[in-house]
Amino acid sequence: MNDSSGRVANPADLKWWQSGIIYQIYPRSFQDSNGDGIGDLKGITARLPYIASLGVDAVWLSPIFVSPMRDFGYDVADYCDVDPIFGTLEEFDALVAEAHRLGLKVMLDYVPNHCSSAHPWFEEALTGKDSPKRDWFVWHDGRIGPDGTRYLPNNWRSFFGGPAWTLDEASGQYFLHQFLSSQPDLNWRNPEVRAAMFDALRFWMRRGVDGFRVDVIWLLAEDEEFRDEPVRALDPGSLLAVFPEHASLEHIYTQDQPDTRTYVREMRQVIDEFDDRMMVGEIYLPLEQLLAYSGTPDEPMVHLPFNFHLISMTWDAAHVRAFVDDYDARSVQAGAWPNFVLGNHDQRRFKSRVGEAQYRVAQTLVLTLRGTPTVYYGDEIGMHDVVIPPHRLVDPAGLQQPGSPEAGRDPERTPMQWKAGPNAGFSPEGVEPWLPVADDADQINVAAQEADPDSDLNYFRALTRLRRAHPALVAGSYRSLDTGQPDVFAYVREHEGETVTVLLNFSAEDRPLTDLTATRTLLSSLGGAPDPAAPLGPNEARVVLG
Ligand code: NOJ
Repeated sequence: MNDSSGRVANPADLKWWQSGIIYQIYPRSFQDSNGDGIGDLKGITARLPYIASLGVDAVWLSPIFVSPMRDFGYDVADYCDVDPIFGTLEEFDALVAEAHRLGLKVMLDYVPNHCSSAHPWFEEALTGKDSPKRDWFVWHDGRIGPDGTRYLPNNWRSFFGGPAWTLDEASGQYFLHQFLSSQPDLNWRNPEVRAAMFDALRFWMRRGVDGFRVDVIWLLAEDEEFRDEPVRALDPGSLLAVFPEHASLEHIYTQDQPDTRTYVREMRQVIDEFDDRMMVGEIYLPLEQLLAYSGTPDEPMVHLPFNFHLISMTWDAAHVRAFVDDYDARSVQAGAWPNFVLGNHDQRRFKSRVGEAQYRVAQTLVLTLRGTPTVYYGDEIGMHDVVIPPHRLVDPAGLQQPGSPEAGRDPERTPMQWKAGPNAGFSPEGVEPWLPVADDADQINVAAQEADPDSDLNYFRALTRLRRAHPALVAGSYRSLDTGQPDVFAYVREHEGETVTVLLNFSAEDRPLTDLTATRTLLSSLGGAPDPAAPLGPNEARVVLG
């Protein structure tokens, strides 16, 4: 794939998931075509030309399967059909056909760790201990105290607060759920479960789906002895610290178990039954464990293990540089293709995190580093977190953890802002969208930004055009530079004699540049084409040739 320096022989040899950009859509929030306040497939299909105009290469749809929507689709009741809220299978086929016509790949969100308690598998499992589906889930008799009282099997916690176990009164057994009690964990040790779940992948690949984002792939198996997890001090900087109860345990028995890695290898074999398909795994782990999920040439695992580390990072040049240097070197060593993410439906919008002034610096970074970028809908127009009034909060992760206001994910899931006026063009006038539209949608929206050459939207497009025009930005090696300026992160991308340098000013002051041999400015976040060697302006991102 790449030699020991990370160089790629020929960009044309790269796969689409290496050279491309992935665009994540949260279907409930993208475009409501039937006026029920919730986005749908027809709405997405109608907006595919817009997505193609961004210069991205693939769309990933958060779950669209049949679901009671307790966790907004991450609780699946039928893995092989579309929820009526979103549309029909025929409408899905039309979406795929139109995407492919426009040159866009389509990725679905595959949720293998758990299903919905409304899935017929679980309903059947609940009929009794001798149900043929009983062992499709994870059961435990609980511990019995000296006085005969039954209590929880162990100290495992749900991500969304409370124990990871719920008692099934009828049988007296507890079932495991690492999320809501309406999301029972599937028992991946049961080969019938694996066979059924792998068939679901085949079902969608036969319909033309190009890839999958795999939900919580590092959680598939748990310790067979159900041992208590050690208690640890909360690390406020960690990615999942927003779920404090869950983060108070060291997850040595519920995460990244050896069997999990085995099942991921099996999953990869299923993906490889079809041509040119891929999977990206949702994995919140330290770098070493994260990169292990790429597997080896003989035993490949996921094509891209999602790298979320830019999200939790202290936002300054030194921290970002140290991280990227380390990640790039480790990726080269592991023979893994890198990838970068600034936001998704579980994390605060990056504009709100890094601040308005640094927004373009962050956008430039993620679109010029070596590796596949995944961008979250609306980030291309600079959507920020929306303050949701208490009576409109709907995310169970927040509602179940009222003491942890950061746990709720509603602020980053609000309707896409298409134009000024009622509901920002997301839902027709007079309809109340499922989450409120941002107050400033009349200013921050696609239509307004289309008309403005200096808008965030057109800056995003300029960056994706630059990637296409310069193979160094896609296939080139990565090397950071010492500029003598602690607030500047600078790096070089090189490919077959072409050198592109990226200069990012993390400060609000001018920063002079010395020893730069660049010949031409390709893009500046401040507009125009300043002399490549001129001091960087406040919060400027500049891409130069040479
Ligand atoms: C991770 C998903 O991204 C999140 O939205 C969901 O709540 C959990 N997995 C459970 O499926």
